[in-house]
Amino acid sequence: MRLHRILLACGMALSVNLALAAEVEVLHYWTSGGEAKSAAELKKIISGKGHTWKDFAVAGGGGDNAMTVLKSRVVSGNPPAAAQIKGPAIQEWAQEGVLANLDEVAKAEKWDTLLPGVVANVMKYKGAYVAAPVNVHRVNWVWANPEVLKKAGVAAMPTSYDEFFAAADKIKKAGFIAVAHGGQNWQDFTTFESVVLGVGGAKFYQDALVKLDPKAIDSATMKKSFETFRKIKGYTDSAAPGRDWNLATAMVMQGKAGFQFMGDWAKGEFIAAGKKPGKDFLCAAAPGTANAFTFNVDSFAMFKLKDAGAQQAQAALAAAIMSPDFQEVFNLNKGSIPVRLNMSMAKFDDCAKLSSKDFVATAKNGGLVPSVAHGMAIAPATEGAIKDLVSQFWNDDKISVDDGVKRLLAAARAKP
Ligand code: GAL
Repeated sequence: MRLHRILLACGMALSVNLALAAEVEVLHYWTSGGEAKSAAELKKIISGKGHTWKDFAVAGGGGDNAMTVLKSRVVSGNPPAAAQIKGPAIQEWAQEGVLANLDEVAKAEKWDTLLPGVVANVMKYKGAYVAAPVNVHRVNWVWANPEVLKKAGVAAMPTSYDEFFAAADKIKKAGFIAVAHGGQNWQDFTTFESVVLGVGGAKFYQDALVKLDPKAIDSATMKKSFETFRKIKGYTDSAAPGRDWNLATAMVMQGKAGFQFMGDWAKGEFIAAGKKPGKDFLCAAAPGTANAFTFNVDSFAMFKLKDAGAQQAQAALAAAIMSPDFQEVFNLNKGSIPVRLNMSMAKFDDCAKLSSKDFVATAKNGGLVPSVAHGMAIAPATEGAIKDLVSQFWNDDKISVDDGVKRLLAAARAKP
């Protein structure tokens, strides 16, 4: 009799679980080698919980294409279960009333004690969690090929722009492309924001690019930033326009180019290709930014769904994203560091260990700033406007530095 009741209970539990196992459709833009490998880790964990991962990958680094597709899905009343949405855009989606409240999972999983305050706030709308954070990317990196540097007679990674341009001259003279770049507005701005941070420092970056303070923009420091930015372009190759970021990373990997300005998702490409930091590639804070950290936190917002099974799958996805196992395996592949506090960094490489150390240090010394290029700092509409004007400046040498500054000033004044 007792065995029968036990079997019955198991059967019922199993049937409940099976009954509520559901499909979870996830919209994201992780399509490069390292990105896809990382996303596959999330798929593995969700499948392991009995749910079905429905992959909705939209190509296009930086995510602009994915956001366009997402808008049409939501407007047509057919949102995915989860989407890669970050920073201030989370607030905009939440204001539309389409995001699900994740507080039940967040409380059960103690997210408030496991997340840096700066990150927890980004994930909340009116005090309630509506998104789950995946990682902390550092954006202000320069990557390099040690063989190219050696052949060019460059002894060490540059820490200032004087050292950077001296190294770039040697690399060019040695017959290599000094700077591998992909000419797309988000990539141009990724370089630009690192330059502003390196030339002006964290406070200036915050005042000029986050607060868009006209006094900070209309300054000699901003002029110097535009001049330095334009000088970097002189070290890129003529095939750069439109190039995808991971193809620029491949140029450094293959020894065709010396340097690349890019966030540490670039490291995900090196790692996916079996390359070793310190041996096959080098990482360093972008010139002048060693005491600063531009953060970019990937996150998944969950959309309101009616089906109980789908809601269960969403909750499982949110819990999985913040779980220690996933935080470790995902970030080992993605090139970022765990967002979850007090994670052991024992398995992580020296670039990640430096990122983790600097994340903590800059949170204390005021050097921790949100990436503008990657949607962590300002309203998407304003971000798009200043990205476009900075790309126009990059692409058109007839636009003077003064005009570049004036256009940024105008965009800052025009912000809603
Ligand atoms: C960023 C995203 C990163 C990385 C990069 C290139 O915006 O946060 O995870 O994927 O774009 O696509």
